[in-house]
Amino acid sequence: MNVLKRCIYGISIISIASMNVQCKGDKKVEETTTEAKATEVVTIEKSAYGTTPKGEKIDSYKLKNQKGMEVDIITYGGIISSLKVPNKAGKSEEVVIGFNSLDQYMKANPYFGALIGRYGNRIAKGKFTLDGKQYSLAINNDPNALHGGPEGFHRVVWTAEEAKGGDSASLKLKYVSKDMEEGYPGNLTVFVTYTLNNDNSLDVLYEATTDKKTVVNLTQHSYFNLSSDFSKPILDHEITIDSDKLVPVDATLIPTGELTDVTNTPFDFRKAKAVGAAIGAKDDQLKKGLGYDHCWVLNNQDKGYRFAASAYDAGSGRLLEVYTDQPGIQFYSGNFLDGTLPMRNGGTYAHRTGFCLETQHYPDSPNQKDFPSTILNPGENYKTKTSFKFSVK
Ligand code: BGC
Repeated sequence: MNVLKRCIYGISIISIASMNVQCKGDKKVEETTTEAKATEVVTIEKSAYGTTPKGEKIDSYKLKNQKGMEVDIITYGGIISSLKVPNKAGKSEEVVIGFNSLDQYMKANPYFGALIGRYGNRIAKGKFTLDGKQYSLAINNDPNALHGGPEGFHRVVWTAEEAKGGDSASLKLKYVSKDMEEGYPGNLTVFVTYTLNNDNSLDVLYEATTDKKTVVNLTQHSYFNLSSDFSKPILDHEITIDSDKLVPVDATLIPTGELTDVTNTPFDFRKAKAVGAAIGAKDDQLKKGLGYDHCWVLNNQDKGYRFAASAYDAGSGRLLEVYTDQPGIQFYSGNFLDGTLPMRNGGTYAHRTGFCLETQHYPDSPNQKDFPSTILNPGENYKTKTSFKFSVK
């Protein structure tokens, strides 16, 4: 390392070093590096979380920045088990639905905080065809296949690697889904990297490769309640979705194949609107979804990574903005939460006490010739990024 480089390195971590850092010898640089470790901008801490009945050890990783945001991720399902962000008074509080034990995560639950794959959302009747060969998936959401199958990627154990650098820290999770696992062809190697930045954004980078033609649609299934009061429904959260068009569904929540204009419908979120403002309207699509449970066609798809949606809770002042390069976003208003699953500190999660914003390709794309393709071929890299950015206003 030459003297200039050493000086630059010293300056980049100057906040932790005394202002009279002398870039004269290796000794000084070593001392500075040690000090830098003690004051990393975003830290990661690993702890044991539990053991599955099969004897697999599950770890939890806490990523914490200096702006009051912390996120806990467990290696079971790559689940975000906790996400704390400051409110307008600067108080950091929980904003995602979750449990406080591995046992509870291992029981049936609607994908709380989990990574979803190999195919997010529904595939009609659990069947699709690639190169003339029909594949059959488990029907776990009668009469369709949902979220990659009964085990999917949400009930498997991921391996984890930590990475730190600059103003962020990352946890890179890996899972290899075997050829024909859950009925999908091809050995699929998947990496999901969660990165916490010091601007209160959490990036989720999804990567995958296959050795046989397959379909892939990965997403994240956190349920947010920005008020942090999980006894309250999310109906007064104001949502925006940068979308002119909806993917309407049939009675089994499979897309009809059309893309319809949101103008003058309860699905128009181009201007901020409370979840509850029109959720009770007499509307065929709302009836089918039992509320909002639809995929929106995001605008500006040619721009790649861009603003997609936001949610704002006036009480706490918390604003969540979602950015993605995906063509769609599933906005799900927690319609199936029914007061049966336990909250962390007593009580149960009632109807609509959390909402999901799942960036993704449109549901049932493998059977819809006019939808953007979800096929992944050998030699291709599946790579997509979504970011959840928190602030107050
Ligand atoms: C789906 C819902 C489903 C929920 C939990 C969402 O992604 O759109 O229909 O009930 O996940 O299972």
